[in-house]
Amino acid sequence: MDLVRFMLGGVLPYVAVVVFIVATAHRIYTWKRLAAPSMTLFPAPADDKANKKNVLKEALLFRSLFGGDRVLWGFAWVFHVVLLLIFVGHLRVFTNVDSILMTAGMSAEAIQAMSGGVGGAAGVVILVATVLLLARRLALPRVREITGAADILALLLIGAIIVTGNMMRFGAEHFDLALTREYFANLATFGGVTGQAALQNEVFMVHMVLAFLLIMVIPFSKILHFGGIFFTHELVRKH
Ligand code: HEM
Repeated sequence: MDLVRFMLGGVLPYVAVVVFIVATAHRIYTWKRLAAPSMTLFPAPADDKANKKNVLKEALLFRSLFGGDRVLWGFAWVFHVVLLLIFVGHLRVFTNVDSILMTAGMSAEAIQAMSGGVGGAAGVVILVATVLLLARRLALPRVREITGAADILALLLIGAIIVTGNMMRFGAEHFDLALTREYFANLATFGGVTGQAALQNEVFMVHMVLAFLLIMVIPFSKILHFGGIFFTHELVRKH
């Protein structure tokens, strides 16, 4: 196995996971140490239960965005819901979810059809949503003013991951997930990656390396808003 393949397939995954955990923990620690502001920025609910309900509504339905920019809310909500669906679907890449589904009574053909239908549709929908989010940042002067290089780069990185994912999904020869399961099982048990067939597939390598880059960048970027939201909304809504 050549050195580049070994570094990208056998070392980068561990580095990415460690960077992600340490840097995210550090950011959560700094958020937790922030002094709660003494003022309430907009009417806050009287009790803690209603406060928590508000945070949940914000996290699951993007409620304030709905009130602010309905078009952006549409793209953004679809993007995030489909992304969640794709993450769940990726369980098949890492583990043998198929055997659990088969025990539950699904046939191999039904699993394949579900994965092909839902995964295929999700790949197309998220690509369209990403292109629209990028176009919005570039085309609307009001939005372009507050757009930095980091915003564009994050969307381009996510876009490249989506395109290479779709290449595997829709490619002439459908990627064999038994190879990725074997590879990740070896990584998880520190079994070494020499001879892993998954690493011979160029599109898979590009997709995975970009995904690990994204994982490493997340704690340093705005993408960590999925964690930050639980802190900021508690703060502005707290008495
Ligand atoms: C280490 C992390 C990742 C690995 C090993 C991985 C691996 C794969 C594989 C093997 C496929 C082909 C599945 C099939 O055809 O049955 C795929 C598809 C795909 N991946 Fe990933 N992926 C990773 C992370 C990501 C991330 C972070 C995103 C999105 C930001 C993403 C987006 C997609 C999309 C859109 C598809 C095509 C639709 C689908 O099959 O769900 N992947 N990925």
